[in-house]
Amino acid sequence: KENFITLGIETSCDETSVSVVNDGRKILSNTIFSQIKQHQKFGGVVPEIASRQHLEAITHVAQKSVEDAGIEFDDVDLVAVTHGPGLVGALLVGVSYAKGLAYALEKPLVGVNHIEGHIFANFLESDFAPPFLCLVVSGGHSHLIYVNDYGDYELMGRTVDDAAGEAFDKIARALGLGYPGGPLIDKTARLGDESAISFPVAHFKEDNLSFSFSGLKSAVLNYLNHQKQKGLPIIVEDVAASFQKAVVDALVENTLKAARAKNVKTIALAGGVAANSRLRDELTNRAGGEFRIQFPPMILCTDNAAMIACAGYYRFLRGIKHDFTLNAHASLNL
Ligand code: KG4
Ligand code: ZN
Repeated sequence: KENFITLGIETSCDETSVSVVNDGRKILSNTIFSQIKQHQKFGGVVPEIASRQHLEAITHVAQKSVEDAGIEFDDVDLVAVTHGPGLVGALLVGVSYAKGLAYALEKPLVGVNHIEGHIFANFLESDFAPPFLCLVVSGGHSHLIYVNDYGDYELMGRTVDDAAGEAFDKIARALGLGYPGGPLIDKTARLGDESAISFPVAHFKEDNLSFSFSGLKSAVLNYLNHQKQKGLPIIVEDVAASFQKAVVDALVENTLKAARAKNVKTIALAGGVAANSRLRDELTNRAGGEFRIQFPPMILCTDNAAMIACAGYYRFLRGIKHDFTLNAHASLNL
């Protein structure tokens, strides 16, 4: 069917988002209600507050998304919703709303994996297609995934401790920059010297594509303590730039290794940390003429429902549907 309308719903963390997407790739609306203000004073996402905020916002966000798309709820052909991984109370709000909507509209329902959603952000408003290697880096995940085809994935490496975004958020907090940390470090680092301090990056054996960021995090915290104790100056811009360089080097190194191992032509970025300007530049530079680098626009890197609608549409094309026993799962494998 042409003009197939998917309504996507995303509530896995701190954004309540509903999006209307035509034929899987064309965004008719992408409404995002960010809860950042509600969590800011706690320096991070408070799960209990997130669930309540989703509950208050979801019907309004859905209404607005449908209005902005210029459609009626009755025009929806498929309801797609994130059912994991994420905060279980937050996920449940989206899943319950999606079930109610699919039931009322008598339309099919499909649960989407949030990480698959991030990968599919690359397909929106574009004709990009597999195979490719994808680095998915967000607040909760740092995965290297070989995307052989829609629905055909191979996990090649992942973090053994903190996610890249988590490291950005923790270091930003230690530097007194605020929350969420990624965009603030990105901005602050531009004013600093990234070779000012040499922070260690974890290295694994040649064929091991794991990441580890907790050692780096400790090294930065130790440096800050040391400077304070000795009464030495802390140049926040230099610390931010040197930390960011260490994270980006680790990400880019493994990504290029994985891409060579799979002999792909294209490397894609996905997830909130894919919005990082230093990561985009470094990967593009080091890929040279060897790989084509693809990344979604900034707004589609961080959490949004358009990517969920896109992934849901392709799941539906592969014959995947869920019934009303669909549940939320805090951890859910791809
Ligand atoms: O994908 P996302 O919106 O939510 C999760 O699924 O986790 O990613 C959020 C993460 C946060 O840790 C945030 O600090 C990070 O992405 N982030 C960035 C940037 N923008 C967002 N990290 C580095 N540089 C950025 N420009
Ligand atoms: Zn996410």
